[in-house]
Amino acid sequence: MDNTMGVFLILLWITNMVQPNIFQAEGVKVFPPVNFTLTVSALAEVFLHWKPNSNQEQKNYTIRYDVEIITPVSEGYDTKKTHSFRTAVLHNGFSARIRTLLLFDDLQMKSDWVMGELKPPPGAAETSVTNLSCVTYITIYSTVSLHCAWFPGKGAPEDTEYFLFYRYKTYTEECQDYLKDKWNRNIECRFSRTHIDPEEVDDLIVIHINGSSKYAAIKPFQQLFDQNAIEKVNVPRNVTVFLEQNYLLAKWEKPISSFPKECFEYEFYLCNLKSGNKQILKISSNDFGLRIDVTCRYSIQIRANHYICCKRGFWSDWSEILYVGENKQENSIAWILALLCVSSCSIALLLAVICKINHVWSKLLPPIPTPRNKFKDPFPNDYERARTCTSETETELGSFAEDFYSSALEDVF
Ligand SMILES: *[C@@H]1O[C@H](CO)[C@@H](O)[C@H](O)[C@H]1NC(C)=O
Ligand SMILES: *[C@@H]1O[C@H](CO)[C@@H](O)[C@H](O)[C@H]1NC(C)=O
Ligand SMILES: *[C@@H]1O[C@H](CO)[C@@H](O)[C@H](O)[C@H]1NC(C)=O
Ligand SMILES: *[C@@H]1O[C@H](CO)[C@@H](O)[C@H](O)[C@H]1NC(C)=O
Ligand SMILES: *[C@@H]1O[C@H](CO)[C@@H](O)[C@H](O)[C@H]1NC(C)=O
Repeated sequence: MDNTMGVFLILLWITNMVQPNIFQAEGVKVFPPVNFTLTVSALAEVFLHWKPNSNQEQKNYTIRYDVEIITPVSEGYDTKKTHSFRTAVLHNGFSARIRTLLLFDDLQMKSDWVMGELKPPPGAAETSVTNLSCVTYITIYSTVSLHCAWFPGKGAPEDTEYFLFYRYKTYTEECQDYLKDKWNRNIECRFSRTHIDPEEVDDLIVIHINGSSKYAAIKPFQQLFDQNAIEKVNVPRNVTVFLEQNYLLAKWEKPISSFPKECFEYEFYLCNLKSGNKQILKISSNDFGLRIDVTCRYSIQIRANHYICCKRGFWSDWSEILYVGENKQENSIAWILALLCVSSCSIALLLAVICKINHVWSKLLPPIPTPRNKFKDPFPNDYERARTCTSETETELGSFAEDFYSSALEDVF
């Protein structure tokens, strides 16, 4: 009993090792699919379809199809259906191959491959556009606008006219609003409104640019863009900054967008206008607090990007510059010191003048010996003191400035 079981298991193991044999032993053959056809079903979209081989026994086997895209981007998958759609750039052609898979329990048998190909569209070398770039914007009406720009191909004649189309899902539209170069060739296109859904995540925008010229066939060009990756994010709204003791507090609202506020990150640009120190901080909430040196004036700007819910787009522009703090305290102290200095100096001057006048008087009037000593002594003393006052205030001011800068250094952001 045990022996027969063992032999059976070994047999099973052997048959598993040499899979196709079980079919061949049963006289089963796997035939490749027939009438494999590729058609362009939309801009940058291929419809692949085929028929089962009529010689193929259906029986109890499961039949599937192996599909392998070879160009432009290799990709493999299998399907039970006899058709499939693929989005791909087609200006350099498209090629794929398929085969039948026969599945029976864990066993699998494969047919030969059948090739299919789409030839590249005709066109002279270097006539297609280059350096295509596109940007989308979310408007306040929650619609999406689209701007694209490109360079004419090096080999494109001067009379070349380019035409841009975009496709989003099943919707295709030609551009109506072009900007031209000095030879009157279209080099930019704007759609102020599109069918792009601002709430969708990571859907593709297909751009197709072809053209015409009297002198050459213009080769079309296609490019696929991820809708979130080319979005120029809007500027954060209602940015407010204020000081609370020596804390700078900032608040703002997320930019205009269909995404919730959790999807956004921000960059906070802080410039100490006194020291010239600049800093950019990454922040993922809608408010922010930071200890600063309140004796300095700061400029603040914020910009936004989305990234948690979808791919990062282009950073928004910086918000308008806001300022906090004044280089005020230093000024007022300096003013007080200057005022003190000036007033004490003028008192000293006054005293000196009085002193001088007294000298004149003493020369004009007959000298009275007793009070002379009484008058002479105190004034030079006061004069001396006044002079030291000036220098003292200077050093005081200097040391204040030193203190100030060292504390500013300690407190740099
Ligand atoms: C395959 O295509 C040929 C013509 O191209 C047609 O005659 C034939 O019926 C097609 N086969 C199937 C199974 O549709
Ligand atoms: C299909 O499988 C069933 C049992 O799973 C079997 O009875 C039948 O004979 C099989 N048919 C063929 C055509 O092999
Ligand atoms: C156009 O793109 C090419 C290759 O991507 C790049 O080398 C070139 O600098 C770009 N030209 C301009 C003007 O940006
Ligand atoms: C450009 O492409 C569009 C969309 O495929 C097509 O309708 C149009 O005829 C093409 N124009 C030229 C000049 O090839
Ligand atoms: C911005 O502030 C204004 C006025 O204070 C207010 O009406 C508006 O709703 C605020 N916007 C946002 C997005 O909070």
